[in-house]
Amino acid sequence: METESLPFLLLLPILIPGAVQGEVIQDFSQCAWFFQGKVPPQGFDTQNRVKICQRYRNHYHFVTLYRTELRNPVYSAYRYPCTMGVKAKQRPRPWFYEPQIDDPHASAEMSSSNDTSSDHQAVDADYQRSGYDRGHLYPFSLNKNDSATATCTLTNAVPQKHKANVNWAKEAESVVLKLAKICHKSGRLTYVVTGSANSTTIKLKNKVMVPEVAWTALCCTSSSSPNNDPCLNNHVWSEGPDLPRYDKDFSAAFKKRMEPEEPAVRLTVRELQNELKVGKIFESCRGTSADDEEETFKDVTYLIETEMSN
Ligand SMILES: *[C@@H]1O[C@H](CO)[C@@H](O)[C@H](O)[C@H]1NC(C)=O
Ligand SMILES: *[C@@H]1O[C@H](CO)[C@@H](O)[C@H](O)[C@H]1NC(C)=O
Ligand SMILES: *[C@@H]1O[C@H](CO)[C@@H](O)[C@H](O)[C@H]1NC(C)=O
Repeated sequence: METESLPFLLLLPILIPGAVQGEVIQDFSQCAWFFQGKVPPQGFDTQNRVKICQRYRNHYHFVTLYRTELRNPVYSAYRYPCTMGVKAKQRPRPWFYEPQIDDPHASAEMSSSNDTSSDHQAVDADYQRSGYDRGHLYPFSLNKNDSATATCTLTNAVPQKHKANVNWAKEAESVVLKLAKICHKSGRLTYVVTGSANSTTIKLKNKVMVPEVAWTALCCTSSSSPNNDPCLNNHVWSEGPDLPRYDKDFSAAFKKRMEPEEPAVRLTVRELQNELKVGKIFESCRGTSADDEEETFKDVTYLIETEMSN
């Protein structure tokens, strides 16, 4: 039955005028290696959401689930390490957008949002003189070369007050990067899912909804297909001696109400799932069940607090 119904599903977007789809795709199978166990987070996939395999210069760099009616992303999923493509990283001006959200026949690559307007997604002009930053979900600083440049697409951005954006980088993103490096040092990979939740009452240009909460969850574990891993085929780099060693899988999560004075808090992945009212963010990861979450939380506290000195 499954296979018989497939051709119908593939035709559906063409039959319904105005339906939104594109590299914008039906399911994430083409770029599933960005998810732990190749399984997307469960319980996020409701109405008016499009799936994007984020493609830039002929490589997939990460994955986004996007809310078209609020013109902001639910989450982006990515990995560390995973540098695809070449050249030094640079921030494009203006930022990119996803042409296939508006036109399924458009280019499958993210493109400059200059001179573009859209009924289904944010474009650079929506943020101009708004007083809000284009806050990255997948951070620019976590990667190198084209993979870093590809993070500067508006489908990976939520409006954030500047000071809150800066504090989120300090309180959460920099800690995630440290943990990802510790993880990589043990020969493992870090799968990260970063998202936004809960709307405020503010909309930029009466279009782009400002979310109330930013959150991120990470899982350090081994690749499910180490010999055929698109992220690891090229450019494997080492992390140097200045990090603690920790030879186990682990998970962790952070969230912040995006007000400058509100501190980011660390929580377990299970606690985050409960607050978001979703299913599993990771298919299987140490620290995400009632049996191992307390021990893992303590271990991660130790890793975060260990000075980068020995
Ligand atoms: C970045 O690109 C340069 C070539 O432009 C390449 O030599 C280098 O290995 C790349 N770095 C990574 C981490 O992939
Ligand atoms: C963006 O559009 C403006 C106005 O059409 C043009 O002057 C500018 O050169 C464009 N910028 C880029 C990077 O394409
Ligand atoms: C969103 O708001 C609801 C209601 O105030 C709250 O219970 C929930 O924890 C919030 N979600 C997050 C992720 O903070």
